[in-house]
Amino acid sequence: MPTDEPGALGGPDFLDAPFPYMRWAKAHLDGGPGNLGMSGVRPLAPEVRRELGLAVPLEVGAPEAGLKSALAERAGLDPERVFLAAGTSHANFAVFLALARGGHVACERPAYEALPALAGAVGARLDTFARDPERGWRIDPSSLAASVTPETDLVVVTDLHNPSGRRLEAEDLDLLVNAAEEADATVLVDEVYAGFDVPPRPTAALRHPRIVATNSLTKVHGLSDLRAGWVFASPDRIAAIDAWNNLVHPVLPPGPLADALAYLPHAEERLAALRGVFEARRAQVEAWVQRTPGVRWSTPHGGITGLVELTDGRDGDTVCRRAFEQHGVRGVPGSFF
Ligand SMILES: Cc1ncc(COP(=O)(O)O)c(C=O)c1O
Repeated sequence: MPTDEPGALGGPDFLDAPFPYMRWAKAHLDGGPGNLGMSGVRPLAPEVRRELGLAVPLEVGAPEAGLKSALAERAGLDPERVFLAAGTSHANFAVFLALARGGHVACERPAYEALPALAGAVGARLDTFARDPERGWRIDPSSLAASVTPETDLVVVTDLHNPSGRRLEAEDLDLLVNAAEEADATVLVDEVYAGFDVPPRPTAALRHPRIVATNSLTKVHGLSDLRAGWVFASPDRIAAIDAWNNLVHPVLPPGPLADALAYLPHAEERLAALRGVFEARRAQVEAWVQRTPGVRWSTPHGGITGLVELTDGRDGDTVCRRAFEQHGVRGVPGSFF
């Protein structure tokens, strides 16, 4: 079969992914003179864009390859293990869509609200497993065992844990991988706050091919507007994520990717400075928790989230509302998690 036939692009991994046209178009519609297949008007010339007051375009695709390589090198991974996304939200959605649609998801509890919600969004059934407040929000093994079944496709956690700010200990990650191994499932570790941990740790994606890690520059780097995010995964999973993502966000805007690429060499220095700032602020909250009756927390390992528990039976929604009304202090009610 000639290599530009649509069917020649997909190996067995692609067979159940929709939208083969987009994979073919990305590989073959290069804008050359003999190309009658483009589905839009030619890109506006730089001088026309300038006249219209638009930013001058960057060559589509160029910063994408550079950013993939830079992220891969920083993480110690092969570039074919990187998928670029518009923030961690998009990265998580693409993972759920490709790896869990119509299946079964086991997600940590308490959880960042979007993660369990994504199961429903891709038509997957959801069970949750507990993180145990008495053990510093470590994974509760019996709860994990009950929620991961042979039908499970995706086991989902955050590291640092949102909301508690606690680290995912290596033994707990092993528990998750072992459970996923038995179910032939994937472990998704949302690492959007991992950069705040002290000392910094390598991405979980390096530890086992079943682990998929998502992240972005949005939270710990203060670059939310760039929407520069990524997935680290095994090459077969990246291929599936890429194929399904063509339905959602087939091309990322090159401008923000170029900015992300320019930022990366400065990332470690900035993170080191920010860690110091947040450690000092966390110490202030720690002092408040220690001296205040009726509250406790497991001191976060890093970052900007912490889970304060009320030990005197008061209702968290009411306490948060009153804290704002009476003191102008806004906390997120725990009921969201
Ligand atoms: C655990 C977690 N994942 C993902 C996100 C969203 O990240 P992004 O802004 O990169 O889409 C958040 C935002 O609060 C989060 O807490």
